[in-house]
Amino acid sequence: MTSSRRPAARRRIAVLRREAVLATVPVAVAALLGAGAPTAAGTTGAAGAGDPYFPLSGNGGYHVRHYDLTLRYDTSSRHLDGTAVLTARATQRLSRFDLDLKGLKVTGVTVDHATAGFTRSGQELLVTPRHALHEGQSFRITVTYNGTPKPVTDPDGSADGWIPTDDGAFVAGEPQGAMTWFPANTHPKDKSSYDFTITVPEGRTAVAGGILTGQHTAHGRTTFRWHQPEPMAAYLATATVGKFTLERYTTPDGIQVVNAVDPREARDAAPVLKKLPSVLAWESKLFGPYPFRAAGSIVDHAPDVGYALETQSRPVYDAAPDLSTLVHENAHQWFGDSVALTAWKDIWLNEGFATYTEWLYSEQHGGPSAQKTFDALYARPAGDDLWAFPPGDPGSGKNIFDTPVYDRGAMTLHELRGAVGDRAFLRILRAWASEHRGGHGTTAQFVKLAERLSGKNLDALFHTWLYAKGKPDRA
Ligand code: ARG
Ligand code: ZN
Repeated sequence: MTSSRRPAARRRIAVLRREAVLATVPVAVAALLGAGAPTAAGTTGAAGAGDPYFPLSGNGGYHVRHYDLTLRYDTSSRHLDGTAVLTARATQRLSRFDLDLKGLKVTGVTVDHATAGFTRSGQELLVTPRHALHEGQSFRITVTYNGTPKPVTDPDGSADGWIPTDDGAFVAGEPQGAMTWFPANTHPKDKSSYDFTITVPEGRTAVAGGILTGQHTAHGRTTFRWHQPEPMAAYLATATVGKFTLERYTTPDGIQVVNAVDPREARDAAPVLKKLPSVLAWESKLFGPYPFRAAGSIVDHAPDVGYALETQSRPVYDAAPDLSTLVHENAHQWFGDSVALTAWKDIWLNEGFATYTEWLYSEQHGGPSAQKTFDALYARPAGDDLWAFPPGDPGSGKNIFDTPVYDRGAMTLHELRGAVGDRAFLRILRAWASEHRGGHGTTAQFVKLAERLSGKNLDALFHTWLYAKGKPDRA
């Protein structure tokens, strides 16, 4: 997406009189007008969830409770056929609402089994149900679609979404790529349970998050069914396809583990994946019970991707991960997945926490202490990228995966630990995971929690480390 232009366009349009324009402007412009613009038939849902970093991500006016996605992917032609059934609830009166969907061809939309009108405008799929929905109404949206999914390019230049590989597709959606393969309310504010039914050519495997509930082969195709019961942000969904070896077992805690490994990565992955149960046990001891029924790994061979993602209950790796990366992506299951963002500017709540977990793991497993890691980073000169912007205010979607978010974010937690002591620090992390489990958390809520549990005023600390520009002075 051309991120630098979207927000400007939005601002320009916002000054127009809403009611006056709605009747006459093209849908492309109407889609940008935002929440609650009155029309004769009712109201339209906003085209975005109100996140300044990704203004069109998510949609207003409804919440999706459940996605039931039926996909069929032909790995040689790269053609995807999809049916998405969304169970939703209107949070306002709705004469029209949007879904996010980029590319692909929509062949039909129904709302509660009645044919609905639809138009496309950029990444927005605008749906007009036959009858306006009233506030609080539960409804079911069915979208049939097909085409060749293409990834989006994020503001930081990385590919995101459905990324074809030589034997299938690497599928990851942070921050905005979910819309490249299913119609969704893509902002992490909206969390939903999921079912996936994915059909691929026999010999290929389709891996999503959650529990594997079925697998059967007929007429040269294999269908995999996955059930993700716990609420999940759309960006954490995957349906990665490839030639994979599946390993399945249950941990002593009763978590169903599925590891899917591309044979080309098997030798390097094996010693690291062997540690998954002990990593999960160690993280559970630190942060409280693992938040999902399922766990595992998808180790793809996707040399063009360049990152791993903490897809819920089963992270996806572009190559065999090292142990630190395994620790990082699984730490996200607590921080980022179970406790989700309400705004992308709070991204340090994900990345700072997962990075600090790597430091703690090292410290407790014979590697350098967190203090040592902190000191090495702090020694970087004032002009270093690490100090380019404060992690609590990255400034734009372009910066959300940069080193200040990860490393200075982790340094913030280390400073907190130093200020409140180890016991209170761990109590804070555990309370954060349990009090917001399955839901959301904001930076302001985290600061408040840390102050409540430590009995200290931490405003100066968080101000310095999260919000002050440049390299902080040492306290
Ligand atoms: N959350 C992922 C991680 O920390 C990084 C995702 C990067 N995505 C991107 N589009 N640049 O492991
Ligand atoms: Zn991360």
